Amino acid sequence: MTLRTYSRTDLIDPLPGQHFIDGKWRNSADGRTFETIDPSTEAVLAIVARGDAIDIDAAVRAAHRALRGDWGGLSPADRGRLLFRLAELLESEAERFALLETLDVGKPVKEALGDIRGVCATLRYNAGAADKMEGATIPLGRDFVDFTMLEPVGVTGHIVPWNYPLGMVARSVAPALAAGCTVVIKPAEQSPLTALAFAELCQRAGLPDGVVNVVAGFGEDAGAALVSHPLVRGITFTGSVETGRKIYAGAAQGLKPVVLELGGKNPMVVFEDADLERAAFDALDGAFGNSGQVCSSSSRFLLHRSIREEFLDRLAAGAARLTVGRGLDNCDLGPLVSKEQHAKVRSYIDEGRATGAAVRLGGGRPKGLETGYFVEPTIFDGVDPASRLSREEIFGPVAVALSFDTAADALAMANGLGFGLVAGVYSRDISRALAFARDVEAGSVWINGWFIGGVQAPTGGIKESGVGRERGLPGIRNYFNIKNIGIRL
Ligand code: NAI
Ligand code: MG
Repeated sequence: MTLRTYSRTDLIDPLPGQHFIDGKWRNSADGRTFETIDPSTEAVLAIVARGDAIDIDAAVRAAHRALRGDWGGLSPADRGRLLFRLAELLESEAERFALLETLDVGKPVKEALGDIRGVCATLRYNAGAADKMEGATIPLGRDFVDFTMLEPVGVTGHIVPWNYPLGMVARSVAPALAAGCTVVIKPAEQSPLTALAFAELCQRAGLPDGVVNVVAGFGEDAGAALVSHPLVRGITFTGSVETGRKIYAGAAQGLKPVVLELGGKNPMVVFEDADLERAAFDALDGAFGNSGQVCSSSSRFLLHRSIREEFLDRLAAGAARLTVGRGLDNCDLGPLVSKEQHAKVRSYIDEGRATGAAVRLGGGRPKGLETGYFVEPTIFDGVDPASRLSREEIFGPVAVALSFDTAADALAMANGLGFGLVAGVYSRDISRALAFARDVEAGSVWINGWFIGGVQAPTGGIKESGVGRERGLPGIRNYFNIKNIGIRL
């Protein structure tokens, strides 16, 4: 798939670059705008309205009215039907959405198309669950009847990052809608386009005006205003630990529940009895898929000393075959999303070099790509385990390799960071793998595979990787309050 079927103007021009509030396109109250950039070319892609507290207030009030309007009167099955229709519509326009995503964040079209298919799956999973979320009857004895009812929490705010722009919208918005909430979405300033196009698609699918609102803009003004708005009754956020802390603190003022997914530095532990071909193959996608801009990337290889050379040789050989280029050319790796992210990733590479770590592969700008935020797939070896390179989330195609001698060492290294999102273990000894899974501090553990799961499988972090779970049925329960009703007979 290429731009042959769509021209750049077909994609960008129909989007007015305004907020979508109460079923209408609107400029910011103060008329301010910002530019969204094509990171493959560094050129301005579109001018978009830059929202602040006034625009957030308009969107939240529209969402609050919609709760009490037609939407609130729909049965759960009817909400499901609308979400199924939305999935159908999105599927029929998957190519348009994928190309928009590719232009806005640079990812290869094949990956973007996979993301959009994932969004359709997320919509369908939550659509099907809408009329299957049940309360309980509570045993208080013969003289009482006691039961619980699930009620939508109300207006929810969704603050979204740029690595999977529409995927991250759908991950929290689909269950919120299935539960009967209405939503205000604040997409990332690097990637506002597909969220805006999605809001208009929701309207075409028949969701009443005001149910899905999108306010584009920056975190410190639009994002913070969404967190603190008194009519917003829950906040879901994916992004950095630093911003997660601010959002948690803001939500605490209003005593609002939060779901926070804050990334990781995820260990892939490879024991000496592992299937090394499998592990090295998985590591390629794990470390370099989406150019490493993935919260659950396999960014920290913990390798048993006896297989370390063989694993790294295999990994380096595979990585050397990966192509880097513009998203529209469908290479394996696109650019990083922004100038800032490019500078951040480059600074880790420079620091690795300066502190004597060995560059096993990559480390530079790919040849022939002088513009665009490109970085070669990079593997560091012989890294100081205490260095920033070993301990911090880089969020680029840069992986580090460390060695261990015993299972206890591997566990201590895996648990030695503040993060706790994902851990992976490769071993043919299932007892060893399961004992590791039991003891490792992570929200998800993958054995002999990477990126295992989908919309059905809950995900989320412990420690600094976050609060709460998304996806699966727990992902829908985030958007219900439990009301208990007791009756004396
Ligand atoms: P960020 O966490 O600052 O931004 C994510 C979202 O939060 C954006 O929509 C942004 O506008 C919003 N935001 C920022 N400040 C806010 C505030 N004070 N109140 C409310 N909303 C706010 O992340 P950023 O700066 O884009 O990336 C920095 C690093 O964060 C990356 O290098 C990566 O390490 C990590 N990150 C992790 C992600 C994950 O999937 N867990 C996704 C994106 C970034
Ligand atoms: Mg962009």
